[in-house]
Amino acid sequence: MEVIIRPHAEAGCVLGAKIIARVVRENPTAVLGLATGRTPQRLYQELVRLHRDEGLDFSRVTAFNLDEYVGLAADHPQSFRYFMQENLFRHLNIDPARTYIPDGTAANLHAECRAYEEKIIAAGGIDLQLLGLGRNGHIGFNEPTGSLRSRTWLKILSEQTLRDNSDVFGSVAAMPKHALTMGIGTILDARRCVLLAFGPPKARAVEQMIEGPLSAMCPASALQLHPRAIVIVDEAAAAGLHYADHYRWIDSHKLPWQRYD
Ligand code: F6R
Repeated sequence: MEVIIRPHAEAGCVLGAKIIARVVRENPTAVLGLATGRTPQRLYQELVRLHRDEGLDFSRVTAFNLDEYVGLAADHPQSFRYFMQENLFRHLNIDPARTYIPDGTAANLHAECRAYEEKIIAAGGIDLQLLGLGRNGHIGFNEPTGSLRSRTWLKILSEQTLRDNSDVFGSVAAMPKHALTMGIGTILDARRCVLLAFGPPKARAVEQMIEGPLSAMCPASALQLHPRAIVIVDEAAAAGLHYADHYRWIDSHKLPWQRYD
């Protein structure tokens, strides 16, 4: 795991956008895995700026999102499809036909999960998967104790996740309790993973993910198995790390071609 500590979320998001931009510049037909939530919003703004001001071209890029709530149609303001349209897709020149998100309204949800896996394979696999981190260590909606080899599947959201995400719904009662999500196995198949985590609420999960044991109790710890996983955190999210000085040392001694900024 490559751990990069930045002073604040703003710097972390700009760095994350640079990494994605480099992948897209090097491979204009790149397949990106994308996330929703509060964490990547600033990163998406930066991608939009790079597209607008520097001509970053998404016309041949394909995107697969991690997850979607069960029962929410694409035009529901709290659906992840709606989030992606508003925060990213409609500001880029990406082909809407190449933006994939699991369909949480599918009549047969198991068939939808299988089809999603097949679409990722047909696209040639994911070149870079962007991830946020749940306070309970989830990635995608893979909640603690879920299989570390899972493929796209239906998950029951934990009470912690419901509480954390309920603000936009008004209450936990108003929230869907199920989601379709790429599995941990699906995520680990991506050729590169970039996880962002910012702020004090993420500090414990960050520590468990990076320094804790590999354990289904912290699904993000599965990234310890990934050959090219980059974790970008701010100082607040890094507060629980025992080896923060070691990560800073490594970061400050990278060769020029190992740097992203
Ligand atoms: C979102 C997703 C989730 C979030 C995580 C953090 O597509 O898969 O794992 O990344 O819940 O959410 P925020 O960024 O809102 O703190």
